[in-house]
Amino acid sequence: MEVEILQKEIKEKINKIKSLNELEEIRVYYLGRNGKITNILKSLKDLSLDERKIIGPKIQLLKKETEDLIFNKKQELEQENLIPKIDLTKPPKKLQKGHLHPLTLVEQKMRQIFSGMNFSIIDGPELENEYYNFDALNFPPNHPAREMQDTFWIKQENKNINSKQRFLLRTHTSPVQVRFMEKNKPPFQIIVPGKVFRNEALDSGHEINFYQLEGLMVGKNITLANFKFVIEEFFHKFFRGEKIEFRYRPSYFPFVEPGVELIIKYKGKWFEVAGAGMVHKHVFEYAHYNPRDFQGFAFGVGIDRLAMIKYKIPDIRLFYESDLRFINQF
Ligand code: DAH
Repeated sequence: MEVEILQKEIKEKINKIKSLNELEEIRVYYLGRNGKITNILKSLKDLSLDERKIIGPKIQLLKKETEDLIFNKKQELEQENLIPKIDLTKPPKKLQKGHLHPLTLVEQKMRQIFSGMNFSIIDGPELENEYYNFDALNFPPNHPAREMQDTFWIKQENKNINSKQRFLLRTHTSPVQVRFMEKNKPPFQIIVPGKVFRNEALDSGHEINFYQLEGLMVGKNITLANFKFVIEEFFHKFFRGEKIEFRYRPSYFPFVEPGVELIIKYKGKWFEVAGAGMVHKHVFEYAHYNPRDFQGFAFGVGIDRLAMIKYKIPDIRLFYESDLRFINQF
């Protein structure tokens, strides 16, 4: 009778068990060296032979049953531990999505607006040579104009080389003008967005690398009036119809004549946003055009500058620091 009660008790206890630790406690409690079943087995020798014959097999059976129960329960619990516990009611984690850099956003917008005005998008090398970066753009040799743009030169052992063999990191996107004209005949209109490099001291307005967008439109009768239309149309679209005023000041760049500087008034402040002018006849000659046949305008816009104006960013260096507190605002 005692054995049956014990059997029932063990079954109930093992059934309720939730962890391997509890199971081990139960095992020790019944089957350990001083366990309940172990002790009954030990005390069998104190019983009479008849009692022993009845209880002996029963308790042996109970021991075996208990061992089986524990073994099965153990397997069951180990299985459960392998399955990750999933709480289906928990709200999902928010996915961290990437996004475009503010300079990329501005460049894409510029490409889109100029494409809409039928400009083609052209590429050129960042590793340029002296010929395209300076000579072919009418920068006279040893003329101080070359120093307007502090240049990163590529170290070269051989000094006995011509200017097409002397490499540098392009200081502006203008060299692509000549590269393109050498291979194409007017009429055409192109833009060249790209990275440029200058060996300058860093401050809130100067970086050693930044982005420009070059424009070039050449045909039989292209004038500065056409430039005014194109660039003003561009800025109206870029600032989504917000009020802007334009001013053109005479300026000097070796590769245009006349040269102008465009300043715009946006939200009450004046900003210099582009250099421009009519393509200099020497530049046409370098490209093997007859300057009597064609005329055209060229312009260069700072992409970083437009991004700074558009997003009210006080320091150009923020674009290049990869600080997520900044980047994540776009
Ligand atoms: N290349 C000039 C610069 O980096 C910008 C520029 C001025 C480009 C006048 C032009 C231009 O095409 O006509 O400062």
